[in-house]
Amino acid sequence: MTKRKPVVAANWKMNGDRRLVDDLMNTFQGSAIFQQVEVVLSTPATLLDYSQQQRQNACPEIVLAAQNMSHLDSGAHTGELSAQMFKEVGCDWVYCGHSERRHVYGESSKLTAKKFVQAKEAGLVPVLCVGETEEERQKGKAFSRLTSQIEAVINLAGKDCFEGALVAYEPVWAIGTGNPATPEIAQEAHKFIRGMIAAMCAETADSVRILYGGSVKPENAQALFSQPDIDGGLIGGAALKPEQFMSICQAAVGQ
Ligand code: 13P
Repeated sequence: MTKRKPVVAANWKMNGDRRLVDDLMNTFQGSAIFQQVEVVLSTPATLLDYSQQQRQNACPEIVLAAQNMSHLDSGAHTGELSAQMFKEVGCDWVYCGHSERRHVYGESSKLTAKKFVQAKEAGLVPVLCVGETEEERQKGKAFSRLTSQIEAVINLAGKDCFEGALVAYEPVWAIGTGNPATPEIAQEAHKFIRGMIAAMCAETADSVRILYGGSVKPENAQALFSQPDIDGGLIGGAALKPEQFMSICQAAVGQ
């Protein structure tokens, strides 16, 4: 079995400023954590250029990610940003289909799949975010929701689409609530996702990293990350505090 390097990814959402970028770089500069954990920073788009400069100076190991992007190349799309623009500013990865894009901005699984393909074609690593709502879980529809979100990408991008990509399982009911999924519930969902990928390609399923997101904190990170199919986390609120984010990264060491 492949030893998958754990990933701990910050998602600052619409928060943060240059000072917070500096604080984060100061906290991580020279850290040995990078040998064992892939550390990802995703700031608002307006801070990416600054983050790129600062990481080059202080923490070149940090992976830089965009939170969202257009599914199109260019043109009359006021307010949108393209994959090429994120590449030019130094981004390596991009989150596709974050729950807030799907549920607050009404973005469909089909549109998310187009973004995923666009990212890959531009040379950005897509992180496909999936997850069910509380209602779907209560009605026993959690896995059918995950299936439809993942199938939308497979249908457009083909059976080998998760090679060179990541998945993040973020149950909507756990995001920003302070109530994470239990390690058992999260593991069950991660195993299901890996199983779907294994049905197409065993090798990809073995190597693809599947992150858990939703109220991860220093106190609960280790129990989640020690599950066999959980390869790290996608962190919102706790990633706005560099010390807490570092603690969460440390919880991923040795998993
Ligand atoms: P919280 O860690 O604030 O629950 O956010 C999770 C998330 O949405 C990360 O993408």
